[in-house]
Amino acid sequence: MRLFLDSGILEEIEEIQSYGILDGVTLNPSLVKKAVENIRKSGKAKINMADYIKKILNTVPGLPVSLEVIGLDEQQMIDEARRLYDLFNPVANNVYVKIPVNCAFGDKENDFDAVGAIKAAASEGIPINCTLIFTPEQALLAAKAGASFVSPFVGRIDDHIRKRAGITFKKEDYFPSEGITQGSTLLDDNGILSGIDLVRKIVKIFNRYGIGTKVLAASIRNTRQLRESALAGADIATAPYNVIKGLVCHLKTREGMEKFTGDVVQEYASLLRGD
Ligand code: G3P
Repeated sequence: MRLFLDSGILEEIEEIQSYGILDGVTLNPSLVKKAVENIRKSGKAKINMADYIKKILNTVPGLPVSLEVIGLDEQQMIDEARRLYDLFNPVANNVYVKIPVNCAFGDKENDFDAVGAIKAAASEGIPINCTLIFTPEQALLAAKAGASFVSPFVGRIDDHIRKRAGITFKKEDYFPSEGITQGSTLLDDNGILSGIDLVRKIVKIFNRYGIGTKVLAASIRNTRQLRESALAGADIATAPYNVIKGLVCHLKTREGMEKFTGDVVQEYASLLRGD
C-alpha cells in the first residue's frame, strides 16, 4: 500500500520525505489555509500561496500531490482543474486535481456537476483524485467518470455513525472496522458499518469489475485505521503527520532496544565497529 501524507506543512512533508517512505501528499483548502496561516502568524517569513504550493511540489518530485478545486458548478470546476494543472504541473510534473464527488450543498440541486467535471478534466489528461466519497456507489460513479483515485473519508464516516447514535468520542478514538452495536442494533450508515467497511466494499466492487481507479483511504485518524486500510485492500492511505510518526512505535520495541543495548559486550561492539 502506498503511503501519502495529508498535510500542507512544509516541514512535515520534508521530514516524512527524508525517511524515504513517502509516496505522495494530499492537500485540501483547509490544510493549505492552516499551513499558510501558521507561517503568517509566526511572522517568520513573507509568504505567497502560489510559491508555497510550488515549494511543496518541488519537495516531492515524482510523487503525486493533490490540489483541490473550490468551484460549485461544473464549468467552474473544469476551469479550475485546468488552471491548477497548467499553473502547477509544470513545476514538478506531479499534480493531481482533487474534485469532490458532488459539489451540491444547501439548496443547490446540481448533484451531477462534479461527475461531469471529472469526466471533462480526466478526458483532457488531468489526473483526478475524487474526494469526499462516503458510499461505494459514489466511488463507482467517480471511477466511471475517469478518476485516477477515489478518496473514501474513513474517519468522518465513523464520526457520522457515532454522532447519530449520540455517542461521545474524541476524533482520534478507534472505531472497530466491523462496526459497533447499540443494544442489539448494529449501527450503520445505509449499510456501511465503518469507514474501513466503506474502503473494503469499494475495493470489492473495483476488483469485481476490474476497475483500475485506485482506492485512497483518507481521513485516517489513528495507526490502527491505517493498518486496517491495508487489510481492506486500499491501494493508498493518506494520513496526518502524527499518525505516520506513530506507525513505527510500540512499547515492546522500546523495551527490546533497552534490553539489547544493555546486553552489548565490548567484544561484540568491537566486532561491529572495528575498534
Ligand atoms: O484527506 C482528507 C482529510 O484531510 C480529512 O481528514 O480528519 O479532517 O476527516 P479529517
